[in-house]
Amino acid sequence: MVGMPSAFLGLLLLHGMFLVLAQATVHYHDFILKETNFTRLCSSKSMLVVNGSLPGPVIRVTKGDTVYVNVHNQGDYGVTIHWHGVHQPRNPWSDGPEYITQCPIAAGSNFTYEISFSDEEGTLWWHAHSDWTRAGVHGAIVVMPNKETGFPFPQPDGEEILVLGSWYEGDVNEEVAEDLEDGGDTPRSDCYIINGQPGDFLPCSNESTYRWQVDYGKTYLLRLVNAAMNAELYFAIAEHNLTVVGMDGSYVKPVVTSSLMITPGQTMDILVTANQSPHDRYYVGARQYDSVRPDVTDYDQTNATAILEYTGGSYDPAISPIFPTNLPSYEEYSPALNFTSRLKSLANHDHPVNVPKNITTRMYITASMNNVVFEDDGDTETALASSLNNVSWLNPSTDVLLAYYRNISGIYTTDFPNYPPDFFNFTADTAPDYTTDTVQGTKLKVLEYNEEVEIVFQGTTVYDASEDHPMHLHGYTFYVVGMGLGNFDNETGPLGYNLVDPPKMNTVSLPKKGWVAIRFKASNPGVWLWHCHLDRHLSWGMDTVLIVKNGDTPETSIREPPPYMPPCTADSSTIRLRHAGKSNKNKVDRIN
Ligand code: C2O
Ligand code: CU
Repeated sequence: MVGMPSAFLGLLLLHGMFLVLAQATVHYHDFILKETNFTRLCSSKSMLVVNGSLPGPVIRVTKGDTVYVNVHNQGDYGVTIHWHGVHQPRNPWSDGPEYITQCPIAAGSNFTYEISFSDEEGTLWWHAHSDWTRAGVHGAIVVMPNKETGFPFPQPDGEEILVLGSWYEGDVNEEVAEDLEDGGDTPRSDCYIINGQPGDFLPCSNESTYRWQVDYGKTYLLRLVNAAMNAELYFAIAEHNLTVVGMDGSYVKPVVTSSLMITPGQTMDILVTANQSPHDRYYVGARQYDSVRPDVTDYDQTNATAILEYTGGSYDPAISPIFPTNLPSYEEYSPALNFTSRLKSLANHDHPVNVPKNITTRMYITASMNNVVFEDDGDTETALASSLNNVSWLNPSTDVLLAYYRNISGIYTTDFPNYPPDFFNFTADTAPDYTTDTVQGTKLKVLEYNEEVEIVFQGTTVYDASEDHPMHLHGYTFYVVGMGLGNFDNETGPLGYNLVDPPKMNTVSLPKKGWVAIRFKASNPGVWLWHCHLDRHLSWGMDTVLIVKNGDTPETSIREPPPYMPPCTADSSTIRLRHAGKSNKNKVDRIN
């Protein structure tokens, strides 16, 4: 990785008074994707990672900078990388999701992403956006405030980055491919990891437990990333309070808590003061928050830990660190909801909110687990699937962005519905049987430039499989204006909206048997993926795409494509449900 000197970008006239030299720095990185050997849980395997490390390298910028990352794929299969939470103004070409904005970077080739930071500030992250490759291919992004504004809290004395992840003993892409082929459930992780390590409670792991060294009396800015594949996680540090001051690259009003829930895709900025006895050691703990059903217990119940220890502390190494008793248990539901409902935007002069109030497009989108039924050589077979508004997304073989930009027909249709095809009691203990089957398709939603959009996501109990869904939008952050349990009521629901200081997120947990309402202004033209950030739901089709059309000027239009984009080839085809696309001839009538 080479850090390059700053490039002078321009003069800005601020407040009509002062000429301020606006400098944005351009950074260059090389990401070498390569199979690397790792030993965890007493066994070894090789896994694709960036620059030999898990998690991968940190990208560090100041607000407004630009980063070029040249990805050299020295692995065995095609990959793409996504810069999660970076808006990439007008530049979906560098956003990364495979078959949405590009085709995979083939093994043996390379591709340079241009990552343009605009108003993001805080912690974000990057990860592979191809199949389940992100299990090993991910890392943090740190966006520092510019010098003039600084942090909206006292300058911390130090920084720590903790990336939470999932560990699979096997080759997860291989297992997922088989499971999708069979139509069955996808693999469970074997443990969770903190900065690549499972910690003391897992076999063959205590030598390598991650350690965080602090000085007594200092305050640290902890940058927390949930890179786990399929699990919301509870997180706590024994005896130490967490003061959450930012999430998803925006600041929030400080929330003091003894534990928190972080959903896959989310990132948090947390102040931690080292004010406990230096003569003890403290576990930092993460465990799955499982919202599925009490009778489903075959999830990953491991406790990932790191150790927080004080420099100069004279602890007895024979005494084990203190465990965070405040870490909620796996199936506790209310700590997750309570924590999430406390998050509010800073909403001050330097960090204003701008909640859309003249909504021009409203969508009500159900998120469900389903079945697809298809004929295979005369046999009727079923496969697990999931959907938004009863459409189960199918990746096309040419990326949506290219098809849109070049007007290639036959790749997608623009009929993603604004409402579910059928209204029933979405959150009743059991949903009607006929709701189980879904329709597969590449159906997306087109928005005019600058439309003000409200989307209410509704969880359902279809197929007896209600659980939280971390909903993520590329290209934007949105305001989370409301959240509740049960079915959304379009008369009473909006009465409780927070339009004053709603939190800004790029990923929000749609609560099990509940709803969440989000708003954003469609001011970033492009092709942007919406999906559940549980990878099994992403693979099963809980995704759709928003195309935001160009405005009237070149400055409000998608940029020209870069001179080279990875070509779509027959062998770059994605892991997907078998016979996807063949299945729905008789389904459409039945559902609609
Ligand atoms: Cu973390 Cu589609 O992204
Ligand atoms: Cu989901």
